[in-house]
Amino acid sequence: MVKVGVLGAQGRMGREVVRVLNDAPDLEVAAEVDQGDALDALTGCDVVVDFTHPGAVMANLRWCVQHDLDVVVGTSGFGEDRLDEVRGWLPDHPDVRVLVVPNFSIGAISGKADAPSGTALRTASMIAAARAAAGLGAPPDATVSALPGARGATVDDVHVHSVRVAGLVAHQEVLFGGNGETLTIRHDSLDRASFMPGVLLAVRGIGALPPGLTVGLERLLGLE
Ligand SMILES: NC(=O)c1ccc[n+]([C@@H]2O[C@H](COP(=O)([O-])OP(=O)(O)OC[C@H]3O[C@@H](n4cnc5c(N)ncnc54)[C@H](O)[C@@H]3O)[C@@H](O)[C@H]2O)c1
Repeated sequence: MVKVGVLGAQGRMGREVVRVLNDAPDLEVAAEVDQGDALDALTGCDVVVDFTHPGAVMANLRWCVQHDLDVVVGTSGFGEDRLDEVRGWLPDHPDVRVLVVPNFSIGAISGKADAPSGTALRTASMIAAARAAAGLGAPPDATVSALPGARGATVDDVHVHSVRVAGLVAHQEVLFGGNGETLTIRHDSLDRASFMPGVLLAVRGIGALPPGLTVGLERLLGLE
């Protein structure tokens, strides 16, 4: 049995994670921790899963790394600065694996504390990396005047527009433009249950990853 600790266990994602872990014959919920609970309850876990808040996750993560616990991080808010900070902790804990997953499915939650979402940040970074690998520069942009914010935020020169509207749950649309044509890739998560296969994949697979920081599920899905 893999012993799993859940950080943010009383939250919307945390409750769903506890539910699917309880249904999994090979996994055991060894600790349910929420705000105000002592992190010591996580000692002895094989894996910790964090679905808390961007303002809380770094302290949680640091505690887990210091206690040599493997961690799957679902909480959003991880840009390169935070990833670099985590990388800086790891040389002192060479056996620890940290798996940061911006999207267990593909989507973006409304009512979110952060914008762009972790998913959008990661998507924009990957688009920029693909453009760079193809020898392309920043996407062309003829804008000469704009109201502040009208062109969205830029992540590695890719424009990101975060829509926060009541009624939306988790949606992402990526729009590519060419000469006289567009290509739209859209994903809608309609229920938090859609994230759970990815969470289970991460919990079951993290032990097979090399120590250190891994971002995204691609390696566990055999895509890299
Ligand atoms: N990676 C993904 O695919 C994915 C999918 C959905 C949500 N998320 C992210 O997961 C996070 C949680 O989402 P949610 O909808 O469950 O939020 P939520 O607000 O419903 O739950 C967060 C829980 O964390 C608890 N918490 C806050 N600070 C804590 C701390 N220091 N220690 C322990 N627990 C603490 C809160 O009390 C709450 O119960 C968000 O950042 C969200 O963007 C990621």
